[in-house]
Parts: sequence; structure tokens; C-alpha cells
Amino acid sequence: MAAVNLALKLLLSLFTSITLWSGVLALIPIIGDYYPIERDALLQLRDSVDSPNLHSNWTGPPCMNNQSRWGGIACSDGHVVRLVLDGIHLTGSLPPAFLQNLTLLTKLSLRNNSIFGPLPNLTKHVQLEHVFLSHNLFTGPIPFDYIQLPSLKKMELQQNYLQGEIPPFNQQNLVAFNVSYNSLQGPIPQTDVLQRFPKSSYQHNSGLCGNPLKKRCPVPPTPSICPTPTPPISSKKSFELRNLAFIVAVSVLVPFLVIFGFLWYCKRVHRKETAKNAGSAEKKMSPSPRAEDPERTAELEFFDKNIPVFDLDDLLRASAEVVGKGKFSTTYKATLESGLVVAVKRVKDMNGLSKKEFIQQMHLLGKLRHENLAQIISFYNSKEEKLIIYEFIPNGNLFELLHENRGSGRVPLNWATRLSIIKDVATGTNFLHQYLPSHKVPHANLKSSNVLIHRQNQNYRSKVTDYGYYPLLPSRRSSARLAIGRSPEFSQGKKLTHKADVYCFGVILLEIITGRIPGDEISWANEERVADLSEWVKAVVNDDWSTDILDVEILCAREAHDEMLKLTNLALECTDVAPEKRPKMSEVLRRIEEIEERKSDND
Ligand SMILES: *[C@@H]1O[C@H](CO)[C@@H](O)[C@H](O)[C@H]1NC(C)=O
Ligand SMILES: *[C@@H]1O[C@H](CO)[C@@H](O)[C@H](O)[C@H]1NC(C)=O
Ligand SMILES: *[C@@H]1O[C@H](CO)[C@@H](O)[C@H](O)[C@H]1NC(C)=O
Ligand SMILES: *[C@@H]1O[C@H](CO)[C@@H](O)[C@H](O)[C@H]1NC(C)=O
Ligand SMILES: *[C@@H]1O[C@H](CO)[C@@H](O)[C@H](O)[C@H]1NC(C)=O
Ligand SMILES: *[C@@H]1O[C@H](CO)[C@@H](O)[C@H](O)[C@H]1NC(C)=O
Repeated sequence: MAAVNLALKLLLSLFTSITLWSGVLALIPIIGDYYPIERDALLQLRDSVDSPNLHSNWTGPPCMNNQSRWGGIACSDGHVVRLVLDGIHLTGSLPPAFLQNLTLLTKLSLRNNSIFGPLPNLTKHVQLEHVFLSHNLFTGPIPFDYIQLPSLKKMELQQNYLQGEIPPFNQQNLVAFNVSYNSLQGPIPQTDVLQRFPKSSYQHNSGLCGNPLKKRCPVPPTPSICPTPTPPISSKKSFELRNLAFIVAVSVLVPFLVIFGFLWYCKRVHRKETAKNAGSAEKKMSPSPRAEDPERTAELEFFDKNIPVFDLDDLLRASAEVVGKGKFSTTYKATLESGLVVAVKRVKDMNGLSKKEFIQQMHLLGKLRHENLAQIISFYNSKEEKLIIYEFIPNGNLFELLHENRGSGRVPLNWATRLSIIKDVATGTNFLHQYLPSHKVPHANLKSSNVLIHRQNQNYRSKVTDYGYYPLLPSRRSSARLAIGRSPEFSQGKKLTHKADVYCFGVILLEIITGRIPGDEISWANEERVADLSEWVKAVVNDDWSTDILDVEILCAREAHDEMLKLTNLALECTDVAPEKRPKMSEVLRRIEEIEERKSDND
């Protein structure tokens, strides 16, 4: 009897010690057979990439001798040596430096998930042989440090959104390397090792050049030889075309110039008004959130640790200037006393929205990082006032670039620049479509004035803004104010899908090709008809594609007419009345990249 009692007691104390285990863990470097700092690192990962599976599975000790009861983990002598979580719907970004304490990894594999943000820092991982991070949403550059991974054998980074140049990998053990389907740029380094891999390791990065892609790297640009545009008539085309061009020149361009003149005038008057408003903007921005707002203490929330934090008072003290006034928001350029410049958007019409819904959406959107998206850096929410704070992009928008200052003194926007802008827009929009699958229409307000331009010398980078608001709007009627309000399915009262964005993208594409303002009525030839941009283009093109539709500023780039034709066809598919006939955004991007790649092959 006593023996049984003793045994029971022993068993009990064993149980208690097991339950106490996790509490004591932190104090002891190795317990049982594992290292607590490694466990902590894995838990950081578990908690930042939403995955219900991991939560129920990753409990208890990760390693027991050479075994692991945690899915995706392999251990050796108590250390975690392999981390393999492929295709299990991980969403989120990797916690910064979480791998710092998992230094004995030989394999890191997170293929086919939805992980975004920068690639992990792998400086300490001298044993790492396999790095498989393909098919995710990683952005930013490939860290230069990766070329110092001494044991690296295989590296798969394809199908992400990586930017920048490929570092000069030259580890002799490297037998597999794939960076295809990204947004990498520049020459492929001429190291022995990198030159060993086939073309398919590098394809679908429109900015990459050099061998093995067999694509010459551009020599520094020479000044454009394109003469200042006069409405020319293509000499190659037939009599019919010349005839048509003449009719168009007379019957379209002339009234068009009048319309342009008028629009220009209106714009100027409007500008003056906005300029006047700008003076009062300071006043306008300040008082309303200040006055007795019960939630006034709610601070601004920040998404990016690299941006210096400021508070609402700083914002209210900032000098502000109206830079955009849309149907559902007003945007200010705010210069804080610290010198930081941000764009502040005051949104109307979201008052029906619960605080929770708004904050949830902002958190979702605030996590997005992509070089072709204007980044949300903070927001403010109260009953009366909702502010969304974006990074400020300095050089205006595509609408202004295309349509303003037409006439003498204007610097024409050449074809290469137009193509690069359209590719940026497609890339940014496609990223949204991948990242916001839960949104019926991920962008929903895609139009040329929401394509912001950042110019560095001759290079134009563009970023789309005003994205992701569709779920925030209370009713279909208020959605009519977004760009999708112009899609055929909207006016027919049909349900909206991501194809509504594709439609809006198609309209921007047409705008870039024709230089015309969508929504303006166009009458053409000698017919007594008016049509919208896509109808008009369709009609002209159906007769046999001709240069008549082209913006005069790009007409002279004859060598590019073939590309323009392809893009016109793409634009017409995108603006098809039937949403299901329009291509997906990923397909659109692929085709634009193909056109661009072929262009640089030919150059
Ligand atoms: C975790 O999942 C693996 C299989 O994926 C299984 O073998 C293991 O027992 C699970 N561990 C726990 C603690 O549920
Ligand atoms: C674990 O496996 C390694 C080889 O992978 C071996 O050297 C080591 O002795 C094993 N340790 C235990 C405790 O079994
Ligand atoms: C990616 O993972 C999903 C499940 O998450 C799976 O259905 C799909 O086949 C995987 N794709 C690839 C290319 O492995
Ligand atoms: C790694 O472990 C050390 C303790 O050894 C700890 O101070 C540090 O915060 C850990 N790093 C991370 C990123 O968790
Ligand atoms: C990566 O981590 C190391 C320390 O582990 C640090 O010195 C280095 O600056 C980090 N690199 C980057 C790009 O953050
Ligand atoms: C690289 O990845 C792409 C996309 O997954 C694939 O089509 C291609 O065959 C791969 N190339 C090599 C050499 O692995």
C-alpha cells in the first residue's frame, strides 16, 4: 500500500513539474533537449504569420533529442536545423531578426505562402544550405549579405516582388538558383556561378539584362531624337489611312483643341480657387478634430518604424496645402515643423462605419509595402474625422502629366516613359490583387489622377494610391464616386468583381495611348456620333488598326508602333463590356512585361 502511495506521489510531482515547465524554461539555457531561445524565435514566427494550424501544433518543446513534434521542424542534438512550412497559407511579414537565434539552420523553406515584407536577414547562418522562399509576396532587395552564406547550395526566390539588383553570388556549391518572376533590375552579375544557370532562372524580370538572358544592357540614354510633334501622317500607310488621318486631323483635332483649350481654362480657374483654398486649408484642417472630441486622445497609429513618429498636434500645426480634391476625399500636403512632409487625406462618407471596421481595414492596408503603392503610414479615427496619412509623392500625378500644359512649352511625354508608367501601375495593381483576395474590388479607384509620379532625372516611378476603400463605403451609391462607378457592370447594376479594376486599368491604358481624357465625348470622322474613349478606339481600330488613335506626342516613335498596337489590343480586352472576358490583372502584367522585354531585345 505504501509503495502504491509513493508511486502516486511521484507521479503527481512529475505532473506538476511538467505544468511548471514552461514557466521555468526561460531561466535555463537547455531544458530536456532543446534551447529556449530557439523556441522563442519560433514562437515569434508563429505569432506573426497567422496560421491556426501552427498555433495548435507548436506547443511544448520543439525538440526532443533528434526529433520534433512540431510540424515543419527538424532537430539535431536539441537544435532546430530545418524549418519547412510550404503552402500552408502563412500571411504576414517575418518578425525582424527572428532567425537571429536559429543559427544552426541548414534549410529554410517557406514556399508558396503569402508572406510579405523584406527577405530575412541571414548573416549568422553559416550552415544554411537551402533557402526556398519562392511564391510569396516578398518585396525589397535581395540582401547583399546573402553572397556570404558559405554553405549555400540552393536558393529559390522566384515569384515574389523583389526589387533592385542581383548581388554577385559566387558560392561554388551553389547548384540551383532561381529569381524569375520578380521586379529585379540591372545587369546579371558576370560571376562564374551565376552565369551557369539557365535563362529560366532569370526570366520575367523586365529590368534584368545581360547573359544568360541574351538581352543587352542599355547604354546610358542619349537625348531623344524624336522631333517636336506635329500632327504627322504616316508615310507607310495607304491612301485610305492618309485620307482618314486627314479627316481626323480636321474633324477631331480641331474641335479637340477647342475642348482642350476650354478644359485648360477651367483647370486654371479651378487651380486659382484651390490656391485660394490652400491659404485657408491650414485653418480648415486644424479646428475640427481638436474641439471636444472624446476620442481626441486617441493617438495616431504608425505602421512603419522607419518613419519618425509625430502626433496629432504636430499634424494640426503643420502647414497644409490642398493638392487634390476628389468626390470623396480632400488631400493635403502637410509639412510638419520637423520638416517631414506627408500627404493627409480627409475622407468623407465613411461615417456609418464602425470604429472597429475602419481600424481593421487600416491595419490591413497599412501592412502593404510595394514600390508601386503609395504607402499608408498612419491614420486617425474619430467620429467626426477620419484621416489617412500617406507618404508624400512629389511630382504630381499621371492625369496632370498627360493632359496639363498641352500646347507650346510642354515637354512631350515619350513612349518609353509611358510604357514604364503603365507597367508600374499594372505591377502595383496586380500586387493588390494578390494581397487583398478578400476584397471584391481590391483597388476600386484606379484612375490617372490616382497614379502618383516620382521623377528622378529622366526616370519616372509611379505609385498608385487611394486603394482598398471599397469595403469602407456604406452603399453602392457612394461607390459610384469611385472609378469603378464608370464600369459597365456598375451602371448595369451587376455585381462587382476584381475585373472592375481591370476595366479601370484599361481606361488608363487608353488614356496613355491616345492622350485623351476618358469621359470626354469624342465625335469623329464625319459622323454625327459621340462615344466614350473605349468605344471610339474600338471603332477606329476595328476598321483596321491605324495610328489615328495615337497621342501626337508618340506618333513619331514609329519603331514602337507595334508595341502600341499590342497595348491597344490589351486595353480593349481590359475594357470589354463583359467582365468575364477581361484578362486577369496577373495576365495583364505578364503581357505588358512581354512587350517590354521584346522591346529591349530589339533595342
Ligand atoms: C504536429 O503535427 C505533426 C504532423 O504534422 C504531428 O506529427 C505532431 O504530433 C503534432 N504535434 C502536436 C503537439 O500536436
Ligand atoms: C542526433 O543526430 C546526429 C546526426 O544527425 C548524431 O551525431 C547525434 O549523435 C544524434 N544525437 C542523439 C542524442 O541521438
Ligand atoms: C500552393 O499551396 C496551395 C495550398 O496552400 C496548393 O493548393 C497549391 O497547389 C500550391 N501550389 C504550388 C505551386 O505548390
Ligand atoms: C536572441 O536571444 C537573446 C538571448 O540570448 C535575446 O536577448 C534576443 O532578444 C533574442 N533575439 C531575438 C530576435 O529574439
Ligand atoms: C543582419 O543582422 C546582423 C546581426 O545579426 C546585423 O549586424 C546586420 O546589420 C543585419 N543586416 C541587416 C540588413 O539588417
Ligand atoms: C524558375 O522558376 C520558374 C517559375 O517557377 C520556372 O518556370 C523555371 O523553370 C525555373 N527555372 C529553373 C532553372 O529552376
